[in-house]
Amino acid sequence: MTSNFDISAVRAAFPALALTDAGVLRRYFDAPAGTQVAGRVIDAMRDAMLNACANDGGAFRTSVAASAIVDAAHDGAAALFNCDPDEIVFGLNTTSLFFEFATLISHDWQAGDEIVLTRMDHDANVSPWLQAAADKGVTVRWLEWDRETFEFRYDSLDTLIGSRTRLVAVGQASNFLGTINDVTRVCAAARAVGAISVVDAVQSTPHIAIDVRAIGCDILCASAYKFFGPHAAIMFLSQAMQARLRPWKVRPSVETMPTRFAPGTPSFEAQAGTLAAIEHFAWIGSHCGGAPATAPLRQRLTAGFEAIIAYETDLMRQFLTGLTNMPGITLHGIGNANRLASRVPTFTFLIAGHEAPAVAAALADRNIFAWAGYFYAWEPATVLGLRDGPGALRIGLSHYNDAAEVDALLAALRDITR
Ligand SMILES: Cc1ncc(COP(=O)(O)O)c(C=O)c1O
Repeated sequence: MTSNFDISAVRAAFPALALTDAGVLRRYFDAPAGTQVAGRVIDAMRDAMLNACANDGGAFRTSVAASAIVDAAHDGAAALFNCDPDEIVFGLNTTSLFFEFATLISHDWQAGDEIVLTRMDHDANVSPWLQAAADKGVTVRWLEWDRETFEFRYDSLDTLIGSRTRLVAVGQASNFLGTINDVTRVCAAARAVGAISVVDAVQSTPHIAIDVRAIGCDILCASAYKFFGPHAAIMFLSQAMQARLRPWKVRPSVETMPTRFAPGTPSFEAQAGTLAAIEHFAWIGSHCGGAPATAPLRQRLTAGFEAIIAYETDLMRQFLTGLTNMPGITLHGIGNANRLASRVPTFTFLIAGHEAPAVAAALADRNIFAWAGYFYAWEPATVLGLRDGPGALRIGLSHYNDAAEVDALLAALRDITR
């Protein structure tokens, strides 16, 4: 295991990891659906509801505290994505933000225009654009993926994206296959023809450092409850996009960010919690990644992600070795130990002779939490013929899992499928 990753301290940062039922520890392998929450997140949300319980913008103490949360949370999210604080939009979740922005963006689409979606994305980054396209008579083209490599057919981008393309929507990491995609390449192809690029970073944000400037996208979204925070989403909306879009607006509301594209009163407690989740990565950066505690937030964050990547790579190797030694496994994702840099630790697989929901239920009997199904990954599950049946089993590893838990999981899987 990576020696400088202080897994004991990391695990101690998550109160839920100590919970037991009838003396049996809970073991969480459901991270791709939602992670456990860092203790500092719980504290920050409680504190916000106690000390900042007012609308923002007023002169009195609680309102001043609410305004301070908004400012700090936007600064934190900007450090996480490497953008300006006034390019951050908070929302309820990624799905509702994409639906909202699909309405705004498709406003001037014309029949005969085209958009490009992918056969790998979660449906949150498909249906909003699909419905907008249907409303406007816009043609949808599809970026396919290779069933041997689990990667996009990037060589098809030249023919898919052209002068009629208005938007390209792509996921940075698949919630089904686990593949990390070359979104920089896809966004460059979109930019070359003046198309808007939208990146779904929900499954990448818990595992790798995000840099919207390097990616070159117009929009990127992540959900805080997938990265150790509360139920909320943060979206990067480039200044250029802000200038192009007409927001939903009640007349008294101001035209300036962060209010401009976030109608109504936000969840201040969720913003406080999201900031605390971001600070958790920064704490790892200084505690395990060698960044000075006084270094700028972005520097501590990138050090944190480097430490997480090294640790999760070891966990992935351990899990894959055990899994591939079991009989009857079909892994739908990259299994080659030399290609672990191309995937997040999300493993979707079938076990011959054992339906996934039954295996998930047997794991639950042992207080091991994992999902069976197709996880709203409508397109990839359709490609694999897994959408209409019992689906597949999905194991998600996170930086709060340890080697003993992975061993326990593998032993349970062997026992259940013996
Ligand atoms: C890749 C991906 N995108 C989008 C979503 C939807 O996120 P939300 O629940 O915040 O709408 C999920 C949820 O699982 C996801 O995995």
